[in-house]
Amino acid sequence: MGPKPHEAVRFLLNGEVVEARGVDPTRTLLEHLRGDLRRTGTKEGCAEGDCGSCTVLVGELDGQGGTAWRAVNSCIQFVPMLDGKAVITVEGVAGAAPHPVQAAMVEHHGSQCGFCTPGIVMSLYGRAVAAKGTDAPINEVLAGNLCRCTGYGPIIAAAEAIPAEAAPEVADQLVGLRREVMLDLEHADAIAGMTRRWFTPQSLAELAQTYAARPDAVIVAGATDIGLWVTKLRKPLETLIDIGQVAELKAMTRQDGWLRIGAGVRYVDALETLGALYPDLGEMMRRLGSTQVRNSGTIGGNIANGSPIGDMPPALIALGTRLVLRRGETQRTLPLEDFFIAYGKQDRAPGEFVEAVLVPLELGGAMFKVFKLSKRFDQDISAVCGAFNIQVKDEVVTSARIAFGGMAATPKRAAACEAALVGQIWNPTTVNAAVAALAGDFTPLTDARASAAYRALAAGNMLRKAYIESARPDLATRVPEAAAHG
Ligand SMILES: Cc1cc2nc3c(=O)[nH]c(=O)nc-3n(C[C@H](O)[C@H](O)[C@H](O)COP(=O)(O)OP(=O)(O)OC[C@H]3O[C@@H](n4cnc5c(N)ncnc54)[C@H](O)[C@@H]3O)c2cc1C
Ligand code: FES
Ligand code: FES
Repeated sequence: MGPKPHEAVRFLLNGEVVEARGVDPTRTLLEHLRGDLRRTGTKEGCAEGDCGSCTVLVGELDGQGGTAWRAVNSCIQFVPMLDGKAVITVEGVAGAAPHPVQAAMVEHHGSQCGFCTPGIVMSLYGRAVAAKGTDAPINEVLAGNLCRCTGYGPIIAAAEAIPAEAAPEVADQLVGLRREVMLDLEHADAIAGMTRRWFTPQSLAELAQTYAARPDAVIVAGATDIGLWVTKLRKPLETLIDIGQVAELKAMTRQDGWLRIGAGVRYVDALETLGALYPDLGEMMRRLGSTQVRNSGTIGGNIANGSPIGDMPPALIALGTRLVLRRGETQRTLPLEDFFIAYGKQDRAPGEFVEAVLVPLELGGAMFKVFKLSKRFDQDISAVCGAFNIQVKDEVVTSARIAFGGMAATPKRAAACEAALVGQIWNPTTVNAAVAALAGDFTPLTDARASAAYRALAAGNMLRKAYIESARPDLATRVPEAAAHG
């Protein structure tokens, strides 16, 4: 079936308007760039967001009349997600002469086989033009770019030599591309034998209506999970609803003691605020995925995905977060821990979606700690993630909310462990008893990330670590700046 008149995806590619007409909406930006537009500077390494060789910059209106640029993995962005946005690829960086990023990479021998180089150039270019400019830690910026040749030293030396520069300004052109109507794409997929539909509602009401009418649709937020369903699992997705243009879902507001985070808020937009409220949470989030993943992925997506090893749920459960769900006109709120029923099963009715999460703005003086344990420092999924919200008054534990990821089929509170703490003196004897009680809370699995015995030991040791750090804050370990590629 041919495309309808309004079925083209429009975006700016290196300053020029590109119209993608009739394209399969689950075609990735990387496939579109390389296969359809023959811009082959952007490379494919893993096609799952891990290596960074496909990194491009995506620009959007920043709400203050300018353009905000983010580095993303083009291998897990679907083409319609770019509608009304701007893309810069490695072909758009240089002018008549190499760009200072490219010149620095040459000068410092930052490239050997060259496969990772376009992605690294884009990540460093993104750093040079970002709001924080060259203050952004190099290791954080490069954590999502793998290089098998250089050992990173020369790349870091190049990064240190790159000056900050003004971001390319394309806001006027983006305003011209903006559309008021819902993008509604239809594509006949001969191989999958289906007609694929993609909707991009422009408001919360439109989203609620569209999803209620098509409850079997898949909601797409940042696509850092869903992208892999297509590129790796080859799942034949039939109907998709992109929530990326719903302004109401992108808001973060403070009300009645809660920080309300819309389901479309990306990690990058929430990190500073959450990190200021709960520093340990900020540190954990800086290790969640990579810069590219945090620039696309949402907290709502992490929760809705329901993975037992997602990092945000244990932290948010321990904080006492509430989840706002919506179906049509009906809204309901529930404690986050009640959302996770069993492996792959959440308390979400057909047509119901995550609208927001409500994070308490303060914990009445309780201590809050989160520990993420993974084989690699960043860009790695946790073996165990433990979060501890413990209130101690006059040396007695008056309340405890403790939750773990990686220890059960869902992110889960440690009820027996909490019970062993409350009402007891906060001392090593109590902590040891609470560690022993964890055996009644969890029967962890052995898998590629860790054995059951290791997980059980690590979970207990996290509680011990929380205790030691509460008694001796000076012993608390903080993220070492050089850890990422050490
Ligand atoms: C390289 C890489 C590294 C990663 N590292 C980590 C890590 O360290 N820790 C970690 O926890 N995760 C990690 N992830 C997983 C992923 O980034 C997160 O789960 C992310 O938060 C998903 O959010 P998203 O917006 O991209 O969701 P999407 O991929 O768009 O969606 C994920 C799921 O949630 C559903 N969904 C999304 N939004 C809503 C909504 N509002 N209402 C209802 N359903 C919705 C979708 O239908 C889908 O089922 C990593 C992923 C990659 C590719
Ligand atoms: S190809 Fe590896 S991150 Fe995209
Ligand atoms: S230069 Fe070969 S992968 Fe980086």
